[in-house]
Amino acid sequence: MSHECRALILERIRQHGPLTFAQFMDLALYAPGVGYYASAMRRSGRTGDFYTSVDVAPLFGELLAEQFAEMARILTPDSRLRTSDDKDHPIDFVEAGAGNGRLSRDVLDALERLDPDVYARARLHLVERSTAAREAQRETLGHHAAKLMGSTADLPSSIDGIVFANELLDALPTHAVVGREGGLREIFVDAVGDDLVERELPPSTPALDEYFAAIDVRLAPGWHAEVNLRAVEWVRDAARALRHGFLVLVDYGHEADLLYSASHAHGTLATFTAHVVENRQEERAAPWLRDPGGSDMTAHVDFTSIRRAAQAEGLDPICLVDQMHFLMGLGLQTRLEQKTGTGREDVMWRLALKTLLVPGGLGTSHHVLVFGRNVGRPALRGCGRGRARS
Ligand SMILES: C[S@@+](CC[C@H](N)C(=O)[O-])C[C@H]1O[C@@H](n2cnc3c(N)ncnc32)[C@H](O)[C@@H]1O
Repeated sequence: MSHECRALILERIRQHGPLTFAQFMDLALYAPGVGYYASAMRRSGRTGDFYTSVDVAPLFGELLAEQFAEMARILTPDSRLRTSDDKDHPIDFVEAGAGNGRLSRDVLDALERLDPDVYARARLHLVERSTAAREAQRETLGHHAAKLMGSTADLPSSIDGIVFANELLDALPTHAVVGREGGLREIFVDAVGDDLVERELPPSTPALDEYFAAIDVRLAPGWHAEVNLRAVEWVRDAARALRHGFLVLVDYGHEADLLYSASHAHGTLATFTAHVVENRQEERAAPWLRDPGGSDMTAHVDFTSIRRAAQAEGLDPICLVDQMHFLMGLGLQTRLEQKTGTGREDVMWRLALKTLLVPGGLGTSHHVLVFGRNVGRPALRGCGRGRARS
């Protein structure tokens, strides 16, 4: 498919001129039928291009279920005060960027055992842009498919419960910019014959300069960076839809002062092809132009701007904590102590655990951001060792 994706991108450029990086990334990942995510129902895992925590083991979903059960209890009136209506009060579980539904299946498998009351009241909504992935969701969910209230490309308009997303924000199309003596320049994708090339032009929108002004960042001349306006918009939309409950985002990224600093002077754009990661190592290197539609493309998330967007819509920040501490807070330690056997199952389990926790790997690169609306600022188990931010 990727030659068709390249042909589509070249045609757009010939018709409309250079594309912003965000427009290019949107076509490369999501163009119907030919984009990277649009043309397959699953892209991660051993035979894919990258791993997410969901690929490692059902354990990630199991531990998230522990956190969701605690949240569900906070969302449910005290049993002594409950009316019969409350007993049946449904709890929305909305997973965004759900792919074929594996994480939700793992969460529901665990909830069914852990908290049958919450399981009984769970109403599942899967939000996924790829039609190919959406079509596979019912089969993945198995008997939990009876709980599926909606499988859509957009968020439901009103949510009373828990919205969660694993590695969604990093996959949203981002603008790419570079600092110059005269101010900010934006990276566009242009065509020279049949080759795709990067071109620096004045910013396509004042929103890029405004973004940096809002977080008090100035890019030094020569520094590359990404500005994910879509991620900020997505959080705004999710916050508006959430009437009561929690928003839980798992992704890799940094606070703005670290993301936009000398330590990330080449920016954080990366492509993943068969588990090989390529970044911009020097001014002109742009591995993402080689095979658009055939490889994944991501950039790290700016947690500062995400938090600002959520707070501007009235959400309370509850915590930002690395995945290792989040999972430890949910009882991983105890499980580890119980699985000491030398049989294949226990050994595989411990290996999975290591991948989820290992410093420098998913455990510290990935962070969990939790926000709430009308829930106060509860001390959640997963946040127990985290830092509350305001
Ligand atoms: C990196 S994958 C992560 C999949 C899954 N959450 C996991 O952890 O394995 C990102 C997913 O988000 C989906 N996606 C991208 N933009 C989206 C949007 N605006 N709304 C919903 N899903 C989206 C992609 O199609 C893709 O399935």
